[in-house]
Amino acid sequence: MVLKWGIVSAGKISNDFTCAMKNLPKDEHEVIAVAARDKARADNFAKIHNIPTAYGSYEEIAANPNIDVVYVGVINTQHLSVCKTMLESGKHILCEKPLCMNYKEAEKLIKIAKSKSLFLMEAVWSRFFPVYDKLRLSLEKEEIGDVVQLTANFGLEIYSERVKQKQFGGGVVLDLGVYTIQLAMLVFGQNTPFEITSVGHLNQDKVDESCTCIIKYPKGKTATTILHSIVRLENDAYIYGTKGFIKIHQPFWCPTKITVNGEKFEYPLPDSDKGRYNYTNSAGLNFQAKEVYRCIKQGLLESPLMSHEDSLIFARIEDTIRSQLGVKFEVDE
Ligand SMILES: NC(=O)c1ccc[n+]([C@@H]2O[C@H](COP(=O)([O-])OP(=O)(O)OC[C@H]3O[C@@H](n4cnc5c(N)ncnc54)[C@H](OP(=O)(O)O)[C@@H]3O)[C@@H](O)[C@H]2O)c1
Repeated sequence: MVLKWGIVSAGKISNDFTCAMKNLPKDEHEVIAVAARDKARADNFAKIHNIPTAYGSYEEIAANPNIDVVYVGVINTQHLSVCKTMLESGKHILCEKPLCMNYKEAEKLIKIAKSKSLFLMEAVWSRFFPVYDKLRLSLEKEEIGDVVQLTANFGLEIYSERVKQKQFGGGVVLDLGVYTIQLAMLVFGQNTPFEITSVGHLNQDKVDESCTCIIKYPKGKTATTILHSIVRLENDAYIYGTKGFIKIHQPFWCPTKITVNGEKFEYPLPDSDKGRYNYTNSAGLNFQAKEVYRCIKQGLLESPLMSHEDSLIFARIEDTIRSQLGVKFEVDE
């Protein structure tokens, strides 16, 4: 089976995802079109990546009957409307994180995907790195005993207006939060009840520029996370258990190294288009493309490793944290 991809937006992450796809087998993945709001941008993107068709609107890519699946790399505020257009045209979807602006939107989108029997996944790419396979296995085997504490920080100096401005759906919770939240849910189990306490600072546009969040679980278990857009942090994650600890070496959201009770394991990134990426370790974006292929081939409408339920839980937590910080978007009304 050859999965025919369309790329929606000619932005930074779309560039990285398209580069990362290049070393996947040609008889499994083919990028056949790109769309941008502006035809010249789409043409330029198509030229760089050797994509046969470029469109100057998202509607045109939706109308192409040869496309099986779209990668949606537009700004957060546009995820719901763009994904809805794609689903209504019968396309499967891999959508950048956060799936939507809030729980209400995510629920609506998932409902549409289900009603159309189409695949939909939030691109939480961390979960498909080999380090995360090792982590899941290690937790399953209880190699560090009973897990009681997670500490995960994600802080970078971020200058992008996309993250600073409310009109683009900015803020650290929506930009970085999903990575620490997904790790906490993976480690402690998403069905475990929890309480959240968050504090943070808002910028002039009233979006969160930093946030410290504590998730308290029963039986003495806690996740402590810091998100920051003003300063770079040590972006390792530590998982402490009664018999030892696991370190996911930075960058913990797209890692190549993990240490379990002092033993270090390394998993190199796929070798593809080095030097053309905008973001850290973006070659690893192809792990999630492989998962999309596997799921669609098997007729699955969601990935068991990054399910619709996962997206809804993350959205609910992001809503709670934003409300504790006092960050409100128009769509929250
Ligand atoms: N997985 C990751 O590691 C990762 C990293 C960074 C970002 N992301 C996610 O990817 C998405 C895009 O981020 P990015 O860094 O690629 O941003 P970006 O370079 O600014 O690109 C965003 C794209 O959004 C499109 N867009 C649609 N409506 C828009 C509007 N009203 N104003 C401005 N742009 C609009 C533009 O597409 P056109 O080309 O059509 O104009 C633009 O190229 C975000 O949801 C972000 O959370 C994920």
